[in-house]
Amino acid sequence: MAIPTETVYGLAANGLDTHAVARIFEAKNRPTFDPLILHAPTVTAVQQLTTQWPTEAALLAEACWPGPLTLVLPRAAHVPDLVTAGLDTVGLRIPQHPLTLALLALLDFPLAAPSANPFGYVSPTTAQHVADQLPDCVEYILDGGPCTIGVESTIVGFPNGEATVLRLGGTPLEKLERLLGHPLRVHTHSTSRPNAPGMLSSHYAPRKRVLAGTREELLNFLQAQAAIGAHSAEIAALVFSSELPMPVATQWVLSADGSVNEAAYHLFGALRTLDSDPRIQLILAEWAPEHGLGRAINDRLRRASA
Ligand code: TXA
Ligand code: MG
Repeated sequence: MAIPTETVYGLAANGLDTHAVARIFEAKNRPTFDPLILHAPTVTAVQQLTTQWPTEAALLAEACWPGPLTLVLPRAAHVPDLVTAGLDTVGLRIPQHPLTLALLALLDFPLAAPSANPFGYVSPTTAQHVADQLPDCVEYILDGGPCTIGVESTIVGFPNGEATVLRLGGTPLEKLERLLGHPLRVHTHSTSRPNAPGMLSSHYAPRKRVLAGTREELLNFLQAQAAIGAHSAEIAALVFSSELPMPVATQWVLSADGSVNEAAYHLFGALRTLDSDPRIQLILAEWAPEHGLGRAINDRLRRASA
């Protein structure tokens, strides 16, 4: 079934049952080298899924859970290989959504749940997105309304004991650094062996071509197009806080107030809408400011344009 979380909708199954987990991979057409996150309702339940609870993990869990943070820790022996893709670590989080927390509290097992989209595509932030995309493989969608954060969780692992960001997401890097009192290593790219998240450089991607750039770069691009008489009727612009002063088929402002949180909330819905607009061939996307959730937005735009 699909479940709501504060980040994106997940496609959930019993995370300790290999057959149930296998059905998630099938439904998403997801390669089995890409491990899943286990969702549990309490820190006690999370601790049963790992063999270590480092001080910094405890500190982050205490301050950020329930919330958009996934901790990657050594896995307990009963966590299936399929969940971890054979790694000796497992991704764990307590999501912040009342329906899903209530559901998790009723179960005596964690829920494995990747984002409820076909592998590589934009994550769903409403129940309707799930229904649109995985109509045949999800019998039940728990509709918890639109996701309040709108981008996936931040993933933190502890390779060699050093807190390391493996995916930029719904918990701002600045918050993690404030909590731990030191800068964090950010290691969000892996080309061959994705021992981490949507670490593949092309991921979270719409089907249409996406060209990400600064406002100036996008304006230059449009001016160059106009100069050669190319028509902009097939181009859409996804801009941060104000429209580009150039004619294009359609523009989508992510946050008129210039809020990175509001922009994150709108990002995936906007990409989907533009992706399904038959007029559009190319989506121009303006970088968000590189702070707070702006970093997660830019990470997704980078991968969408790869
Ligand atoms: O916000 C979220 O995290 C959402 C909601 C549903 O909780 N889930 C989500 O799951 O984004 P998914 O599977 O789409 O992305 C999780 C990423 C995967 O790309 C995977 O590679 C990474 O987490 N991951 C899981 N276990 C890992 C591990 N042991 N080591 C490194 N990365 C891991
Ligand atoms: Mg995903």
